Amino acid sequence: MRITLTRPDDWHLHLRDGDMLKGILPETTRDFGRAIIMPNLVPPVVTSFDALQYRARIIDLLPEGDDFLPLMTLYLTEGTDPEDVAMAAKTRTISAVKLYPAGATTNSDSGVKDIDNVMPVLEKMAEIGLPLCVHGEVTDPSVDIFDREAAFIEHVLMPLRTRLPELKIIMEHVTTKDGVDYVNSAANTAATLTTHHLIINRNHLLVGGIKPHYYCLPIAKRETHRLALVQAATSGNPKFFLGTDSAPHTDPNKESACGCAGVFSATNTMPCLAHVFEDAGALDKLEAFTSLNGPAFYGLPPNTAKITLTQQDTPVVFPAKIETGDGPVTLFNPDFPLFWRVS
Ligand code: DOR
Ligand code: ZN
Repeated sequence: MRITLTRPDDWHLHLRDGDMLKGILPETTRDFGRAIIMPNLVPPVVTSFDALQYRARIIDLLPEGDDFLPLMTLYLTEGTDPEDVAMAAKTRTISAVKLYPAGATTNSDSGVKDIDNVMPVLEKMAEIGLPLCVHGEVTDPSVDIFDREAAFIEHVLMPLRTRLPELKIIMEHVTTKDGVDYVNSAANTAATLTTHHLIINRNHLLVGGIKPHYYCLPIAKRETHRLALVQAATSGNPKFFLGTDSAPHTDPNKESACGCAGVFSATNTMPCLAHVFEDAGALDKLEAFTSLNGPAFYGLPPNTAKITLTQQDTPVVFPAKIETGDGPVTLFNPDFPLFWRVS
């Protein structure tokens, strides 16, 4: 079997920098036309100047003739200048701003402690139509890690929606039915869903020994939530689109007494998704999820190029690890054989 799709985009991607960027960039550009590039470098991508420089470093590493387009984001801090954001948007240096609650995840220490302190930036963004990408988890230590997304919806997203109804919000990597239901109910709100959250639940992470390569944030939830994510992704609903959150960390940093959060799925995302959509009897909705809904929400045209997915009789072999100048990065293992490949 073969299906042809508009070339997909990844609306949430970590490319890192330096040797890691060099090692993993081809894993995304092979299949994807564009990606929203996360700004949580050390130090973070805070100003329009930082974004211009980071974009140049990415483009420098693209092979001759590769037309992959990195769509840059700024890392929202309590010191972000609304005018710098507006200028970066106007010159198309950036496509979105990313809100990390301070302390929520990898390199989020410079994030937002109190949303009141970034309201002038958010008001400006609402005025100019620039989307806000949100890591939707509270950081209150008293809130259980499995409840942090639901708490964020109630305590942060709902009040923000009331204060700024026009602001375009993307709730990134939604992991709960609560998140799906909220996104369905809220105007000007969309969500990205990751490859891994469509495939694993918390048992994959914790049963039969701890599996550090399935540890990510937000943490995988119980099976009922995964099923709600699959339903949302395969429904064709334009509010839901692919953001892999492919987030490479080297094996020593994952396989550690205090391992980093992140699943690296760039290499096999499209074969994984074809499997999930086929299982759900929804292969006809795959293109909307990977290639059409995202650009529509961001106000961009879909890619003009196409890709073909071919199903073969024997499992497709992927490398277990991608070797980078920083060290090996283990590829997401969906725990079932993959028969689809991109050609
Ligand atoms: O698992 C994750 N890894 N979640 C995030 O929010 C950040 C990411 C990273 O940068 O490694
Ligand atoms: Zn991320």
